[in-house]
Amino acid sequence: MIQLAPSLLSADFSRLADEIASVEDGADVLHLDVMDGHFVPNITFGPAIVKACRAHSKLAFDCHLMISEPQRYIERFLEAGADMISVHVETEPHLQRALQLIRDGGAKAGIAINPATPAEALSTAIEFCDYVLAMTVNPGFGGQKFLEPVVPKIRQIAGLIRQRGLQVVIEVDGGIDTRTAPAVVAAGATILVAGSAVFGQKDRAGAMRAIRDAVEGVRT
Ligand code: DX5
Ligand code: ZN
Repeated sequence: MIQLAPSLLSADFSRLADEIASVEDGADVLHLDVMDGHFVPNITFGPAIVKACRAHSKLAFDCHLMISEPQRYIERFLEAGADMISVHVETEPHLQRALQLIRDGGAKAGIAINPATPAEALSTAIEFCDYVLAMTVNPGFGGQKFLEPVVPKIRQIAGLIRQRGLQVVIEVDGGIDTRTAPAVVAAGATILVAGSAVFGQKDRAGAMRAIRDAVEGVRT
């Protein structure tokens, strides 16, 4: 089962409640990109905005923390109503502890991994997460070009999950649209984040349907 996660980063920030309402029926998850201007060269929003949006949606909230020292803020995002929280493997020396903190708060714990970071970096920590968020662009901005060389790495991560018999799913983020989605689904991804391919389009329902249609029947 493929899950579609529109990324609010490409929405109109002056009308967030209306923007969320426009994807409420077609989406499975709402992806929220938290950026600190330190780990990534862009700044977005924090837990206060997540909490404000929470009141306007029944979708699962997926907070992608692109921030340094993410562990310091996990509780704030849990309180704000996050259902899924991912921390970057590149930011957290105590990854397992951070993942446990997320799970203890009742949310699903994800490890986000940059395009240039090898799958081996997931190491033993993968055993303590619910999902791996494989970045298919360098994090920081929407609308960037999909990085094709990440596809074999997604396949490698899927293999690792199978080999170890884990209940971990793969989410992909960056440059996902009707053209690129089939390749990542074939490689083993089941949660598709799409920013500009959904919120960048006028007809959001149509845009979401098009991505679902593009991966219909694609097998891993
Ligand atoms: C990028 C963010 C993505 C972004 C994706 O750093 O993590 O979630 O919104 O945007 P698109 O789908 O336009 O590449
Ligand atoms: Zn993201």
